[in-house]
Amino acid sequence: MTMQRREVLNWACGACVGAVGLARAQDGLGLNDAALGSGRRFGFAIDPGYANKEPVKSLLRQHAGVITAENAMKWRNIENVAGVSDYTRADWVADTAERLGAALRGHTLAWHQSTPAYLSTATREVFAVAQTAHLQAMTARYRGRIHTWDVLNEVIDGDQKNKSGLRESVLSELWGEDRYPELFELARASDTRAKLAYNDYGMEQNEPWCERRRTAVLRMLEQWIKRKTPVDVMGLQAHLDVSRKFSATRLSRFFDELRALGLGIQITELDVRDALQPGTVSDRDAATAALYKDFMDTCMGHAAVEMIVMWNVTDEESWVNRGVQAPRRPDGQPMRPTLFDMQGQPKAAFAAVAGSLRQAAVPFDLKNTNTKHV
Ligand code: XIL
Repeated sequence: MTMQRREVLNWACGACVGAVGLARAQDGLGLNDAALGSGRRFGFAIDPGYANKEPVKSLLRQHAGVITAENAMKWRNIENVAGVSDYTRADWVADTAERLGAALRGHTLAWHQSTPAYLSTATREVFAVAQTAHLQAMTARYRGRIHTWDVLNEVIDGDQKNKSGLRESVLSELWGEDRYPELFELARASDTRAKLAYNDYGMEQNEPWCERRRTAVLRMLEQWIKRKTPVDVMGLQAHLDVSRKFSATRLSRFFDELRALGLGIQITELDVRDALQPGTVSDRDAATAALYKDFMDTCMGHAAVEMIVMWNVTDEESWVNRGVQAPRRPDGQPMRPTLFDMQGQPKAAFAAVAGSLRQAAVPFDLKNTNTKHV
C-alpha cells in the first residue's frame, strides 16, 4: 500500500474512533510507518478476545506492521487433549495479520510452559513423536505466511546449579538438551522461507543475573552454529523493569556478540514493568518512558535489530495486569507497562518510542549475518 493511501485510510479510521484517532493524527505517522523509515518493522502480540475490540482494533490498524499470537499458537492452546487439535484462534490471528498487511511471527514451536499437560508423564519416545508432529503440523499449516518462527523458547537458566546454563524442564528431560538443534532442522525442512529464532528473556538489562544469562545463551548459540544449526535470529523478549539497571553500552556489545555469530536480532515481547516505582502516575510514566527511550535508541543504533514487537497493546489487556503472573504494586494500582493507557490513549512511553523510531541512527542491515531468508 502506498504511504498516501495508508494515510487516507488512517485518517478515515481516526475519524470514526474519536479520541484515539485524534491522538494518532496529531502524532503524524503510525509506529510501523516510523519503523519502516529505517527498514524495520513495529508491532504487537495479540489474541482473539481483545484484538477485535476498541480501542485495540484501531490502534492495530494505525501502528501494527508485525503480529505475534500471544497464546493462540502455543501447543497447549492448540492441542490440550491428546489428538484433538483446534486451530480456530491461531487461524484468526494469522488472518488478522494478513488483513492488517502485517508480518506474522509464529510463537512458539517448543516451550516447557506450553507443552500440553497430558504429555508431562510421557516417555521420551512418545514425547519426541508428539513434539515432532506438532512442529511439523504448525510449520506446514502456516507455511508461506510466517515471517519468523520462534522455534524454541526460554531454555536458558543462568543460575542452574549444574552450571550447564540450561533450564531443567519437561523439554530438557523428555526431548533432551542435546537435541535442541534438531528442532531447528525440522522447522527448516518444513518451512524453508521462514526465519528461525531462538527466543528468551532476561538479557537486556545490566544486572549480574542478566550477565549470567547472556554468557549462557552465547555459549549455547555458538555451539549450535558450529554444528550448522539453521538458527537465523535471536529473539530478545525485553520484558524490562524500571527498577533494574540499564546500560546502552552493555546491550550494544551484546548485540555485537550476537551479530558476530551471524545472527539477526528481533525484539519480540517488549514491555516495561513499574511494580516498585514510587510517585504519581506521571512520575511513573516519565521513568518508564525514559527506559523505553534508552532501550529503543540502543536498538535503533544497531544494524542487526530488525523489528520491535510489544507484548500487548494497552495497559488494560497487558499480561502483567492479568492473571497470576502479576504481583500488583504495593499501592494496589495496576502497572503501566505498554505504550497506551487503560483507555487506549498514548502515554509518555508512546512519544519516546515514536521519537526513537523516527530518529533511528542506523538502518537495519542484514549484511554479515547468516540470514538469507526474507
Ligand atoms: C504469556 C502470556 O502473555 C500469558 O497470557 C500466558 O498466560 C503465559 O504466557 N514469555 C513468552 C510468552 O515467551 O509466551 C509469555 O506469554 C510471556 C513470557
